[in-house]
Order: sequence, then C-alpha cells, then structure tokens
Amino acid sequence: MTHAMYELPKAELHLHIEGTLEPEMVFALAERNGIEVPFESVDDLRSRLEFTDLQSFLDVYFASSVVLREEQDFYDLAAAYLAKAHGQGLRHVEMFFDPQAHTARGVAIDTVIDGLKRALDDAATEFGITGGLILCFLRDLPVESAFATLEAVASRALAGDIIGVGLDSTEVGYPPELFEQVYARARDLGLHCVAHAGEEGGPEFVEGSLDALKCERIDHGIRSLQSPALVERLRREQVPLTVCPLSTVRLRGVDTMAEHPLPRMLEAGLLVTVNSDDPSYFGGYIGDNYRAVQDTFGFSDEAMAALAMNSVQASFAPAARKAELRTQIAEWVAGRAA
Ligand code: ADE
Ligand code: ZN
Repeated sequence: MTHAMYELPKAELHLHIEGTLEPEMVFALAERNGIEVPFESVDDLRSRLEFTDLQSFLDVYFASSVVLREEQDFYDLAAAYLAKAHGQGLRHVEMFFDPQAHTARGVAIDTVIDGLKRALDDAATEFGITGGLILCFLRDLPVESAFATLEAVASRALAGDIIGVGLDSTEVGYPPELFEQVYARARDLGLHCVAHAGEEGGPEFVEGSLDALKCERIDHGIRSLQSPALVERLRREQVPLTVCPLSTVRLRGVDTMAEHPLPRMLEAGLLVTVNSDDPSYFGGYIGDNYRAVQDTFGFSDEAMAALAMNSVQASFAPAARKAELRTQIAEWVAGRAA
C-alpha cells in the first residue's frame, strides 16, 4: 500500500528540475552525449551526496548538469520527475530551471524550454498535472547576464511559455537589490516574481526580496525567524514561504529534522508550504517531504492537508484550478476520516 502522504493531492512550488537528475541518469546521458563527468561511477557520485553547506551541494549540482545538452535530455529529465512526483500526489508544479547553467555551455535557451515544456504538456495529458516554468537567474553571475537571459525569452514570456522568474545559487554575498531592474523588466513582461532568500542569508535578504524585487513568494525564508518584525510582516501580508524540509537538513541549516523550524513557523501564523527543492540530492521527492514532516512532528492528516491547501493557495494556478485542487484535498481528508 502506498503511504497516505503519497495520496494527498498537492502542489509543488519549489523544485529545481536540474535537482531531479538522478545519478543513473547522469551516467546514461553522459554516455548518450559523449560527455565526461568528474565522477567515476554511480556509486562514486552517490558517495558525494553528503553536504556541509549550500556551496558544497551546488558544486556537485552544476558538475552533474553538464550532461544535459539536447532537447530530448531536458524532456527525459522532466518526464522522469513528473512520473515520479505523480506517484506521490503531485497535481500542480511550478518548475524552476537554471538556463544560464546551460547557455554557458553553448546550449540554446529554446532547447531547454522546448524540452521542459513538452514534458509538462505530456504530463498534463497523461496525469492531469498542471503548472508552468519559472526561470531562475544565477545570482552569483553578473546582472548583465540575467538581463540578457530575460531578453532572450521575452517573446516566450509574453506567450506564456514561462510564468515567472526566480533567483537562486550562492546567496551570501549576492543581495537581492542587485537584481531590482531585472525584476522590474520581468514584471513588465507579465511574469510572476519569486526569489530564494533567507536560506543561508539573514532576514535582510527576505526584506530586500519583498521590497526591491516585489516578490510574491519567498523560497525557503527560514532565517526570517531571526527577526520578529519580519515574522510579523510575513504573517500580516501572508507572504507564502516555500519551505524544503529535507533540503534544509541535508544542507546543514539544521542538524536534524526535529530541529527544523517548520512547526514554529506555523505557530507564528506564516503561510508555509512543503517542497522538495532538489529531490535526487536530498533524499526525497515531494511526498517524502510531507512524510518526513508528519513522521517527525506527529502532525494529523488534517494538519498535513492544511499544508497542501497552502500549496494551492500560494500557487499561481488560475482560480478555477485552485478550486478543483481544494476539492480534491477535501475529498482526501473525508476519505481518511471515513
Ligand atoms: N539551486 C538549486 N537548489 C538551490 C538551493 N536550495 N538554493 C540555492 N540555489 C539552488
Ligand atoms: Zn531551491
């Protein structure tokens, strides 16, 4: 029997598609594309998935991503994620991708988008999964590179092939204010705005993402708890936070899941969602993250359903789709009580 947390319908709002690259696929694509990777074997790569901080993870993540070259590679990557997450209750996904990690190697940005979008379209047909793509800028690259990347997708943004922009990679040393003009342009193109903030950086990264970048959601945001004034603002404005429990443990933001601040964030009245971030690196997909939260904190099925309801509320899905998903979650709760 599958676990109840795999059956609970949910949206995923913080998922890097490059972070779903499983070691077996790294080697399969390396062979298909004739590319050398700096790992000896699947087991060697797996043995390197112990991290001390965000940077130690990013080094392996970018080293593995070099195997992605062709449209079919991006399709296969996203199709594998969508099939797996479908089996864990995924109904809607707003998928991050890092185009600069690929264009820097000579891959055309349209190749990346075409492959990912084709997989999303097929998952809509096959599984009824809805969603879209969020283009993330690598914050440790020059702002000019982010601008050029955004301009390269301007027509596709207007066509709806991309629904938003985000900001990721190394946080400390790269404050959100650097990207104020890039985000202003993204808004002009009709794109939603989110950013990683408060993962390793302090509360000022969250404040800057809200004030300078006008972000609608904050990715991670766990270090907001260091500032009572910011917590009060996040509560009052009901700013969604895309929390990634297994990620934060694996990147040593906390020592153990029991110490994760998620319960305190809920008690403070924050709009918390549960997400997987980079599931092939952090030991679990979306349903596994829900499961870890329930197992660790002893949350009831109703409390877990409330987290799934938050994921729907915080999503950029149209109102009619949100209503459908809320009904599905309510039906799941009713089925559990029966
Ligand atoms: N890129 C992929 N995962 C990330 C994370 N958790 N933080 C920053 N950049 C990332
Ligand atoms: Zn992330």
